[in-house]
Amino acid sequence: MTAETIVEAACVSKRFGSRLAVDRLDLRIPSGVCFGLLGPNGAGKTTTLRMIYGVTRPSSGEILVFGMDIARNPRAVRSRLGVTLQQNVLIEALSPEENLRVFGRYHLLSEPELSRRIGEVIDFLELKSHAKVPVQKLSGGFQRRLAIALSLMNRPELLILDEPTTGLDPAVRLALWSRVRDLRAAGTTTLLTTHYMDEAQRLCDRVAIISGGKVMDEGAPPELIGKHLAPETVEFDCAPEEEPNLLSEPGLSLRRRLRVGKRVMIYLEDATPLIEHVRRHDRGDRRALVVRPTNLEDVFLALTGTSLEGGQ
Ligand SMILES: Nc1ncnc2c1ncn2[C@@H]1O[C@H](COP(=O)(O)OP(=O)(O)OP(=O)(O)O)[C@@H](O)[C@H]1O
Ligand SMILES: [Mg+2]
Repeated sequence: MTAETIVEAACVSKRFGSRLAVDRLDLRIPSGVCFGLLGPNGAGKTTTLRMIYGVTRPSSGEILVFGMDIARNPRAVRSRLGVTLQQNVLIEALSPEENLRVFGRYHLLSEPELSRRIGEVIDFLELKSHAKVPVQKLSGGFQRRLAIALSLMNRPELLILDEPTTGLDPAVRLALWSRVRDLRAAGTTTLLTTHYMDEAQRLCDRVAIISGGKVMDEGAPPELIGKHLAPETVEFDCAPEEEPNLLSEPGLSLRRRLRVGKRVMIYLEDATPLIEHVRRHDRGDRRALVVRPTNLEDVFLALTGTSLEGGQ
């Protein structure tokens, strides 16, 4: 393990009774990156995070955070970690400022430092207008921002965010992305989960796609797109019975494709020959075709959802 590794998981499994929630997971998170853990509901993301921040023990395998086993050095590791859980943990009757004060005391911040830090995180997450309003009266977006603010109180070197933007409006999501980028620029390593593939693609330097507790693949989003699919996507409606006729053109490489109901997505190095082929086939009937860059959602579906027809 090099000095640059913040989290290293080696062959980690977690079993709940007969259910294997995490299955021989290997993960290495280098310092300073924003790392995304992606996967369908129940894939094992939250369980993996819980093992990393030390509230769940692996059934087997080893996890080192900052080069330490959290079970042996809980205080030393936790003092350098910030965690935002999937569900907010806030004291509803207290205001954001008071919540931050309670949490800062847990981290043993001294009084002047505590007040200074509360001011900083309130500014950073734009909570000032609601800093004195009881949490129970705040909208979901403000509550989420406060939950993230709490996890920043101790200036963590590793920030763990479990679905930080679920249920937030687009403006708040954008604001939070920008905050995560600011933190990364200041050297904070971030590990997050999200179901929004656009978010992962824009924010994460690297992602691991997990399904059924196993890592399906890991890498930078553009790398994964190139490896599993191709840069251009043509998307259109095509009934299954129409497919042999429409998509059996021998000159076209249409092997990388995905069907979701009537919708077909075809991944290509160059979309032009296929578009011309479909137009010729349809003659005067102009079928609605969408031509777009391939994105991380396509890779996610290919690795975890509907299987790719024909393989690669
Ligand atoms: N404490 C527990 N006891 C029993 N089973 C559990 C427990 N925690 C998680 N599981 C099971 O482990 C599997 C992985 O759950 P986990 O919460 O890690 O998924 P996730 O990827 O975070 O899903 P989501 O996207 O829905 O948040 C699920 O099948 C879940 O039911
Ligand atoms: Mg989860």
